Amino acid sequence: MAASEKTFYLETFGCQMNVHDSEKVVGTLISQGYRQVPTVEEAGLVLYNTCSIRDKAEQKVFHRLADYKKLQAQGKKFGVLGCVAQQEGHKIFERAPHVSLVCGSASYRNLPEMLVQIEQAGMPVRVTGLDDRETDECFETEFTARTNPHRGYITIIEGCDKFCSFCIVPFTRGKERSRTSDSVLAEARQMADLGYTEIQLLGQNVNSYHDPAGKRLFAELLSAVGEVPGIRRVRFTTSHPRDFGKDIVEAIDSNPALCDHVHLPVQSGSTRLLAAMQRLYSREQYLERVSWMKSAHRDISITTDIIVGFPGESEEDFQHTLSLLDEVAYDGVFAFKYSPRPNTPAIKLDDAIPDQEKSRRLAVLLERQRGIQQAHNQKHVGERVEVMVEGKNEARKQWIGRTSQNKTLNFTATSPNIELGSYVWAQVTRAFPNSLVGERVV
Ligand code: 5AD
Ligand code: SF4
Repeated sequence: MAASEKTFYLETFGCQMNVHDSEKVVGTLISQGYRQVPTVEEAGLVLYNTCSIRDKAEQKVFHRLADYKKLQAQGKKFGVLGCVAQQEGHKIFERAPHVSLVCGSASYRNLPEMLVQIEQAGMPVRVTGLDDRETDECFETEFTARTNPHRGYITIIEGCDKFCSFCIVPFTRGKERSRTSDSVLAEARQMADLGYTEIQLLGQNVNSYHDPAGKRLFAELLSAVGEVPGIRRVRFTTSHPRDFGKDIVEAIDSNPALCDHVHLPVQSGSTRLLAAMQRLYSREQYLERVSWMKSAHRDISITTDIIVGFPGESEEDFQHTLSLLDEVAYDGVFAFKYSPRPNTPAIKLDDAIPDQEKSRRLAVLLERQRGIQQAHNQKHVGERVEVMVEGKNEARKQWIGRTSQNKTLNFTATSPNIELGSYVWAQVTRAFPNSLVGERVV
């Protein structure tokens, strides 16, 4: 390594928004003359893009910083980016004094300047961007370094105005702001020109998308991205049930490029608890949205997020959540134990449910869902499905593909070479709760 070479290591925690932010951060650093390296040891600058959605996620960064503290003696610099940076700001310097840079998600645009400051002065740059939040725009950069050459993210909306009572996101990601649909489409065309065939539109709440130029509704934007020549698959995440319109289901039905998968977080099956969570819909209203999807012509897979052990969740509330699992028959569930978060309205509630009980409910829920998924996936046996080829499991001699429904399908093929990113057809021969198995058909 040349003495003057600028190198960085970046580790990302958390959601797809963070993964995509990291792609933009990497692109920005490379444009500033940095080179990305795969280990902390090789790096001059060590960055963590952090998540604060639950306490456990937040603690991870402090563990990492403690693990590598001694490396500061070798002249390494440490930076904390993302939601913990936004949330904790200057407090990070107190807790981990070897940190040189704190850059919240609202100030990524100032990153090049901040880098120059730490390079020149060697002093900690204590910038969090908290003050920018009111006026903040989306983090748009021409330097996005996407990690996958076939499938990529495009942010359409940042921030969240929903203020669910358990959620820290409105405090870390700020107010909702949407990009113009023209700029989203320009990015989609650019990606198609580079060979991308799958696009995932991102936002904390994509259904609140509001084109600042007033040209397209969210469902219209979805269809327009699906019509970009070369784009074969369009996904979107995350949806909020309150803003989820029937027009989205109609768009999926009429445009085969829109994937037949909707992630629609419910959080609880109890209307009483949904009110305490300030989710702005009842169980019945949620089920109405599910019924739109179930009556679509296409077989739309539905996945969700659930929180167990929210303050005041009774056994009866929990049973309502379990019965919702049966009623919807989800294709996948991400379930979490409630974790009290700073600033959120729910922090004032008595977090009375012991951790052990939260763990029990989580285990019961996951076990119930496992059975539902097994039964659900069993229905695919015998079907012919198209998959995008994502990789190969050499040990098992199986290719790894992803269906439009976002399910993993591991398949065998007689041809020794299949290009990654290509689309092939496979017949499903077996089903497991979390994956399908099949054989390529030509
Ligand atoms: N505790 C546990 N889970 C949470 N989530 C958001 N905030 C919390 C919290 N305080 C979950 C929700 C959300 C997902 C991204 O994380 O289920 O949909
Ligand atoms: Fe958090 Fe609710 Fe906004 Fe989702 S909709 S990011 S859960 S506040």
